[in-house]
Amino acid sequence: MSDLAGKHIVLGLSGGVAAYKAAEFCRGLVKAGATVQVVMTDAAEHFITPVTMQALSGRPVYTSQWDAREGNNMPHINLSREADAIVIAPASADFLAKLLHGRADDLLSLLCLARPIERVPLIVAPAMNREMYAHPATQRNLAQLRADGTVVLGVGSGDQACGETGDGRMLEPDELLEELIAHFQPKRLAGKHVLITAGPTFEAIDPVRGITNRSSGKMGFAIARAAREAGAQVTLVAGPVALPTPRGVQRVDVESAADMQRAVQASADAADVFIAAAAVADWRPASAADQKIKKDGSGAVPALAFVENPDILAGVAASARAKSGALYCVGFAAESHDLLAHAQAKRARKGVPLLVGNIGPDTFGRDHNALLLVDANGASELPRADKLSLARALMAEIARRLG
Ligand code: C5P
Repeated sequence: MSDLAGKHIVLGLSGGVAAYKAAEFCRGLVKAGATVQVVMTDAAEHFITPVTMQALSGRPVYTSQWDAREGNNMPHINLSREADAIVIAPASADFLAKLLHGRADDLLSLLCLARPIERVPLIVAPAMNREMYAHPATQRNLAQLRADGTVVLGVGSGDQACGETGDGRMLEPDELLEELIAHFQPKRLAGKHVLITAGPTFEAIDPVRGITNRSSGKMGFAIARAAREAGAQVTLVAGPVALPTPRGVQRVDVESAADMQRAVQASADAADVFIAAAAVADWRPASAADQKIKKDGSGAVPALAFVENPDILAGVAASARAKSGALYCVGFAAESHDLLAHAQAKRARKGVPLLVGNIGPDTFGRDHNALLLVDANGASELPRADKLSLARALMAEIARRLG
């Protein structure tokens, strides 16, 4: 993964128990290709040592504005100008209050104030006890920091080091990384609402059995993440898969094609783009038994009758909003051969402006894929790559077509 290649991050630690997560986050930044300069406050040094952070970042840590290593003796100027972003994790209640007032009596707050505000984003990851987080003073500070252009990340909820339970935990290292990577992606779909289906469907035979397929949902989930990174509001209607929800994405879990269709219909009117990446079962058992179908020992097998599932994509593509161009519909085709011909035929059959073809056995369950984009002007290929890279490229293609 090189999502942060070429990026220089100033990672600031203020005093909080969550400082231990900053060590792992630092490692994640380096693994993602970033160079990292760690700056710590006095209070942070009570929770984790600069030795750990130096070892993980590969650079001596700065802790003082009087650090004489800088030729001009101005570490606050030099460090803030080198940075592509300044990330404060953990950001304590006290440190946030300092930022709010423009206080600058230690190196970290000083370099935040000194940063070129138009060019160097300041991203804070709050971390504190739930009462401190909920306090009107903290909430007021966070609101004002946002108004001043600071990116305030959310917090996690759950058990806290103090023994209490509630909001205020710092985000986990992988969540922080996902947020930072998203921050650097171009906002091509800002203001758009993107509705996505992903994964297989499960069609019940009885309460314990059903019919499904080998779709992993990985492509659809990567598309959801890429759409959110591109600035869109994202609704992800997911069949039964065990994948984590991309950050900032609203997920609706469904089982059957009928459930999926209902969930899609509930969101389609508000959407600007609909991407049907789910592998919807073509048929379902005509009726699902209320009780488990029992083997009676006679050797008789149950006779299953099937009915066809609704075509969710074709239904949405036939709506007035899709036909007027207000809702841009994108279909997927998983084929085993003759991809171009099948994709072209499917595009016409589904009535969608863009159809994305891929080879089923090459994509199901895998982390990589290759896509063939078929629209009214012809076909173009997005060559084999990891699914997130392909999803980002697909977002760029869709944004270009939206104009
Ligand atoms: O007809 P086929 O299943 O090959 O079409 C694939 C495309 O149609 C995918 O975009 C899939 O999500 C969508 N689809 C659907 N509802 C169905 C079947 C397919 O939305 N019942």
